[in-house]
Amino acid sequence: MPTSFLFKQAQEFIQQYFLEFNLTGLERRLDEVKSEILHTGTYRLTEEELGFGAKLAWRNSNRCMGRLFWKSLKVRDLRTLTTSAEVFADALEHLESATQGGKIRSTLSVYATEHEGDRGFRILNKQLVRFAGYTLPNGKILGDPDSLAFTRYCMSLGWEGKKTAFDLLPLVIQRQGEPASWFAIPEEKVFRVALSHPEYPWFKDLGLQWYAVPVISDMRLEIGGISFPCAPFNGWYMLTEIAARNLGDVQRYNLLPVLAKKLNLNTRQVKTLWKDKALLVLQEAVLYSFQLQGVTLVDHHTAAEQFLEFCKQEESKGRVVQADWTWIVPPAASSTLGVFHQEWDNQILSPNFHYQSAPWNGEEEAKVSTFSAGKCPFSDN
Ligand code: ARG
Repeated sequence: MPTSFLFKQAQEFIQQYFLEFNLTGLERRLDEVKSEILHTGTYRLTEEELGFGAKLAWRNSNRCMGRLFWKSLKVRDLRTLTTSAEVFADALEHLESATQGGKIRSTLSVYATEHEGDRGFRILNKQLVRFAGYTLPNGKILGDPDSLAFTRYCMSLGWEGKKTAFDLLPLVIQRQGEPASWFAIPEEKVFRVALSHPEYPWFKDLGLQWYAVPVISDMRLEIGGISFPCAPFNGWYMLTEIAARNLGDVQRYNLLPVLAKKLNLNTRQVKTLWKDKALLVLQEAVLYSFQLQGVTLVDHHTAAEQFLEFCKQEESKGRVVQADWTWIVPPAASSTLGVFHQEWDNQILSPNFHYQSAPWNGEEEAKVSTFSAGKCPFSDN
């Protein structure tokens, strides 16, 4: 990146930092950054700048509905760790302190990026905790179909799973210029929520579960022109992510037909609305089970209200909310939610989180959204 462009990005961010915190000494800091860029080709964010930048990246995440809480993000600066084993040990600490026994704390950890001889890290998993997926000899799939390719990759590294529907994948960490290493996550570090239903005793016998904390680990954090390819972050789950998508999607655990059978619904015709009914039962079960086990989770109605509150707060500060409607509107009960009846601009601001190519997958291009910004999600117009 040309250094003048980097300085421009640095300047924009640092100005915003000084402005939002009402700090003095902006000119001095800008001079410092300018000369650091001239001498080294890059610059180092202070711990405070990093902390604020990470919060802004969350505030600017157009697809995130949970942004009301952006200020409460706990930012852990671990840029000095130098081995994959250290990053692994620390990722477990992230998991534990973010889980807090169920009282989930939004947390982000930043590990080394390429900087003056330092080598950066990548965590190759999509999330710190995720379930494996296997194609069985009979062609059926066991576990999470979305993990098939990554599970095969882990096995090619020498990892072996237990072959259950909810096997924890190992954490695969790569230091720049070194081969990737895998580390098994100790069972006791992962809070699993066993699913049961308040009215249907047979539900718990299905043996379903989900993990408590989604920690996205494959996105690149960008602050003031500096990229952090290893910066895992978590919030808490919204009900529909687990109940509607992870467990309900046909291409994921595909549980609606299983539930419909248990509920004696007529599945021969879609117009009996058996999917709608089964989906509701699944949602009741996930909500009930998380509550029962004291794990933070927000339902989509509350989350939508909180998002609209976020919009109100932002507008009161004179900022224009950027949001991706196709991601903000939840996949269940959409029209009953205030967010369904709103529109937003969808510009990508900086700092932000970005997709990056998966080095294990030979994917050259970062993924792009199916829907381009500002367009109607249901047609090409
Ligand atoms: N949708 C992803 C999943 O189901 C998690 C994405 C992040 N979600 C969150 N609530 N912070 O695992």
